Amino acid sequence: MTDSPLLIEDRGAVRVITVNRPDKLNALNAATLDALAAAFADAGADPSVRAVVLTGSGPKAFVAGADIAEMNGLTPVQGRDFSQRGQRMMRRVEKLPKPVIAMINGFALGGGLELAMCCHLRVAADTAKVGQPEINLGLIPGFGGTQRLLRLAGRAATLELCLVGAPIDAARAHALGIVNRVVPAAELETETLKLAEQLAAAAPLALRGMIDCINVGGEVGLEEGLEYESAQFGLVFSTADMREGTAAFLERRKPAFSGE
Ligand code: COA
Repeated sequence: MTDSPLLIEDRGAVRVITVNRPDKLNALNAATLDALAAAFADAGADPSVRAVVLTGSGPKAFVAGADIAEMNGLTPVQGRDFSQRGQRMMRRVEKLPKPVIAMINGFALGGGLELAMCCHLRVAADTAKVGQPEINLGLIPGFGGTQRLLRLAGRAATLELCLVGAPIDAARAHALGIVNRVVPAAELETETLKLAEQLAAAAPLALRGMIDCINVGGEVGLEEGLEYESAQFGLVFSTADMREGTAAFLERRKPAFSGE
């Protein structure tokens, strides 16, 4: 696995996936998109993994975008295929039945912000910069940026970030709702892992139900979303963890969730 563009490490029940092309600021080429798709499929299927942290290697970048050198030579059909390749992978991350946290350690630009936005939560270093600078390349976002940014931050911010193309700092990204938390760079790893461990200890089937409901709720009308929530709520009553969580509350003890 020495030539893999990813580093994969388990810290207890937390899987840490690191995009590892620091000399190219972790830019996403086709091989990296495919490796990420495989790594997330694997993390989704492995019951010992309860939460995933996604980050980039080196001190500068989370991911500085889709690989510009690779894109430069693409035909229109190859461009569409590249976009779909990235979109499919990111959709898989968004639909993963366990929580995924983007640990944004530096630049998250273009495809890097798109990758962070398909994760369920984003923790950013105070030194991080995020943006959709594709306009400077004569391009538009192609891995879901126009759609997910719109849903996360609304029309005004999305139009500004995409049309102007200037990166914003972590504090502004937080104010716009693009990142959940901003922490001092030196504490990024500790704080992110603490959050990941908290999620890894939670009832996995309840987490899965919530991720499903929130994904569906972003796409359907309120009536349909509420109906979906009721169905998922009912399903949770089939789990041992729901019996354990409610019993532990009544018995004034800490619950021990088994994932069943
Ligand atoms: N695709 C391919 N290679 C990239 C890249 C990308 N998106 N972003 C950075 N790199 C490469 C650079 O080409 C350079 O490679 P080289 O050393 O072989 O020339 C290396 O990563 C370091 O980048 P460099 O530009 O020298 O670093 P910097 O600190 O001066 O600037 C950035 C950092 C992030 C401001 C700058 O790299 C940048 O603007 N990157 C592109 C961002 C972008 O437009 N992303 C959207 C793509 S759709």
